Amino acid sequence: MLRQTLLQAAKSDRLRHLVETAPVSRGVVKRFVAGDREEDAVLVSAELVGSGRRVTLDHLGEDTTGTGQARAVREAYVKVLAMLSAAGVTESGKVEVSVKLSAVGQALPGDGEAVALENARAICEAAAQAGTTVTLDMEDHTATDSTLGILAELRKDWPWVGAVLQSYLRRTEGDCKDLAGQGSRVRLCKGAYDEPESVAYRDTHEVDLSYVRCLKILMAGQGYPMVASHDPRLVDIAGALAVENHRPLGSYEFQMLYGIRPQEQKRLAGLGETMRVYVPYGNQWYGYLMRRMAERPANTVFFVRGLVTRG
Ligand code: FDA
Repeated sequence: MLRQTLLQAAKSDRLRHLVETAPVSRGVVKRFVAGDREEDAVLVSAELVGSGRRVTLDHLGEDTTGTGQARAVREAYVKVLAMLSAAGVTESGKVEVSVKLSAVGQALPGDGEAVALENARAICEAAAQAGTTVTLDMEDHTATDSTLGILAELRKDWPWVGAVLQSYLRRTEGDCKDLAGQGSRVRLCKGAYDEPESVAYRDTHEVDLSYVRCLKILMAGQGYPMVASHDPRLVDIAGALAVENHRPLGSYEFQMLYGIRPQEQKRLAGLGETMRVYVPYGNQWYGYLMRRMAERPANTVFFVRGLVTRG
């Protein structure tokens, strides 16, 4: 119930304005977001790399409403990739970027997909120059086919472009089979949007079971699985499946969100596992933060307490 309410709230412009302008919101947000500026993103990325972790950087923003805005997001990515490269943290893909196609124009009426593809191409080009990779985030189920279509186009020129698949979607086992081939990079997550029963498992246990089925396919395949979860059981299962499939360290990776289970992130990195942290930055943090709160009531308590106590 709370989850659905928060996911609905994530779409409300009025609430967005209220929360974003509350005097202490930014202080509270700091736990999950690197900061507003590119400089903040580079600093946090360098710190994480220094601690033995890897990074995928997300310029916050979604549901872009004009081509100018989409272009600005593209430019922000190109700029931050150049800055990361100059800071020496992009080599061997240590810091890569995650891109929401809706932020670069996918949902614009008419030629939105073409706009998003063109902008994503420019970001991939900049990533290639920096010696790193790009992963396309996955949004709600109405965008899945379009996102996978754009992925296929991009992979013709840059085979390392990664995809995200969500285990709560009933279709995802099939998508895993399609994307388990050589060179394919797939981030498997549970899924963060409020999806209808017709396309998604609504029961958390079913979502977990689906996650394991999907992970089995990816770990047995020829690609590079990216295990995106904070769930201790799924982390253990991923480790066991890697052993069962004779996968050496470095042929798959774990991923967690910035500010969530940092000790566990360090523990996995300390064991020699590849551990990548998803780091969002920018001032459009509202939708991202609402989804994090929907996942875990403790995050909501933390946020509300910060607002109420102004500290
Ligand atoms: P879940 O939230 O069910 O938590 C399972 C268990 O993990 C908990 O019971 C607890 O033990 C532990 N746990 C979770 N949060 C904790 C905390 N704060 N502190 C301590 N323990 C905690 N979604 C999407 O739809 N599209 C996308 O592109 C992405 N991208 C993405 C990238 C990365 C790197 C990650 C980690 C996640 C995403 N997601 C995503 C979000 C994802 O779909 C999902 O909503 C969240 O990861 C939460 O799911 P978990 O698997 O962590 O389990």
